[in-house]
Amino acid sequence: MCGIVGAIADRDVVPVLIEGLKRLEYRGYDSAGIAVVTEDRVRRVRRTGRVSEMESAAKAEHFTSSLGIGHTRWATHGGVTEDNAHPHISHGELALVHNGIIENHEQQRERLRGLGYTFESQTDTEVIAHLIHHYRAQGATLLGALQTAVRELDGAYALAVIDKRDPERMVAARMGCPLLIGLGDGENFVASDVSAIITSTRRVIFLEEGDTAELTREAVHVFGADGEPVQRDEHLSDVSLASMELGPYRHFMQKEIHEQPRAIADTIEALIGSNAFTPELFGSQAEDVLRDIDCVQILACGTSYYAGLTARYWIEAMVGIPCAVEVASEYRYRTVVANPRQLVVTLSQSGETLDTMEALKYAKSLGHERTLSICNVPESAIPRASRLVYYTRAGAEIGVASTKAFTTQLVALFTLAVTLAKLRGKLSDGQEEELLDSLRHLPGSVQHALNLEPQIALWAERFAPRQHALFLGRGVHYPIALEGALKLKEITYIHAEAYPAGELKHGPLALVDKDMPVVVIAPNDRLLEKVKSNMQEVRARGGELFVFTDADSQFGESEGVHVIRTPRHVGMLSPILHTIPVQLLAYHTALARGTDVDKPRNLAKSVTVE
Ligand code: F6R
Repeated sequence: MCGIVGAIADRDVVPVLIEGLKRLEYRGYDSAGIAVVTEDRVRRVRRTGRVSEMESAAKAEHFTSSLGIGHTRWATHGGVTEDNAHPHISHGELALVHNGIIENHEQQRERLRGLGYTFESQTDTEVIAHLIHHYRAQGATLLGALQTAVRELDGAYALAVIDKRDPERMVAARMGCPLLIGLGDGENFVASDVSAIITSTRRVIFLEEGDTAELTREAVHVFGADGEPVQRDEHLSDVSLASMELGPYRHFMQKEIHEQPRAIADTIEALIGSNAFTPELFGSQAEDVLRDIDCVQILACGTSYYAGLTARYWIEAMVGIPCAVEVASEYRYRTVVANPRQLVVTLSQSGETLDTMEALKYAKSLGHERTLSICNVPESAIPRASRLVYYTRAGAEIGVASTKAFTTQLVALFTLAVTLAKLRGKLSDGQEEELLDSLRHLPGSVQHALNLEPQIALWAERFAPRQHALFLGRGVHYPIALEGALKLKEITYIHAEAYPAGELKHGPLALVDKDMPVVVIAPNDRLLEKVKSNMQEVRARGGELFVFTDADSQFGESEGVHVIRTPRHVGMLSPILHTIPVQLLAYHTALARGTDVDKPRNLAKSVTVE
């Protein structure tokens, strides 16, 4: 979603801002802009569409400056127009960029109108620019005006502000949306995401909730929610530049699908190294937290939610305790019966998803102290708010449609299930060794599944002209059917629905005719015979079946039944392996339809609004 970058330096920062915005493009946006202070003026360029269009406009205007801010906007309040794009300017003096949503913007707008301010946009953001300007006009410093203004805002924000009357300074604030400071040599930066500044510095300070900060070229001062100076730790970011470059691939999604063997191997490295499922994999306090839990509540959104649904099968089967899985945006507004022995697990690739973060805060407010976050972005908000953390090591995921983050989440959840089973005495040494072995072989099996790409690309040609598709699965593979349908609709815009195969006859069968392709996830497990019966129900109505199964299942192709086999059966890890073909099917169908694979319409990578 929206992205922020800002810089104060001894060099021209315009290229830094533009490169930063390009690196933030993956998050999803619909307009972009920069503002700089130069020759006692605030100058700004904004464009709807791509950063490259805004870049050309900035070049045409010959912008140069040593102080500036930039933004990619994903519209919430007000349509996709240049007037609504950030930065917003108050009285030609002060420019501001904002991520998040200000809930009391209407009251503030009325108040500021009464004070003589006029509005050029429909955004909630413009009120913040005027509010800070208002306090500046009363004599406050830039930092003081920001600190007073944010106390009057309800909602979430990450802000960066510059003012032509104070060209040696930039100020920033954070509440509910991530913001970090990059420390350079004689230059400093702000960014919503470290990728935006990674070519300038790896030294970063993560602002905490309620913090404000003042940056000059030489110094950074951070203030806590009470306005008093605070020290925040400096971190060295290990984000790899390679993970942000396309290399030989056509799309980041294709690259990330192919990175899965490595991403899985990296995610299980510590486990394989210790040769045992130990609680310490989840943090130093994990044994205390995990030992006497009596149920698990998983909270997540989208693809991460489907990872949670898969884990429920593993946890209940192996650990023998109840596991509930809920969409975070539902949980956070529901009356929940608290249980102090419940383990609350939040799943989030980005670690920033607002709904998941709010669900976690809600769980904690109910007294849930046993919290675990499984996340792919170190130091992001959700793991920082959790007691235990397991970082998946998928590397930066740039494609909006999640792929390697999903399979590595599954690996982490499988590790959790086995660890809990072991803590409860439900795992013999032999079983532990067997499960370790199957995880050890998983990257190789995933590589074999990737080799099915040419066959799947042929299927994709047949999917490309379709308007609708059904996905079916049973048991632990039902969430993989859900994931397959989500991937297809996200990047191809084909309407796709997933059902537990046994549910077909209770309604969706009415949709099946010769024009309805039906994808079935049907590995050789104890439900295979049931799935076969469900497939007959489809064939009897003329539906065309596209079946993903594994080497062990004994059925072949026939009229209207197409089959692709993953090369081996991997037991309980089968849902991970069967994710690969559905990802490839969505990817190649999108290629055949010519859609924007990495930036599907209307979607954002990090969903930092409700
Ligand atoms: C789908 C997808 C989204 C995310 C969801 C949660 O491909 O990527 O559904 O899974 O927005 O995001 P995280 O995992 O970052 O909390």
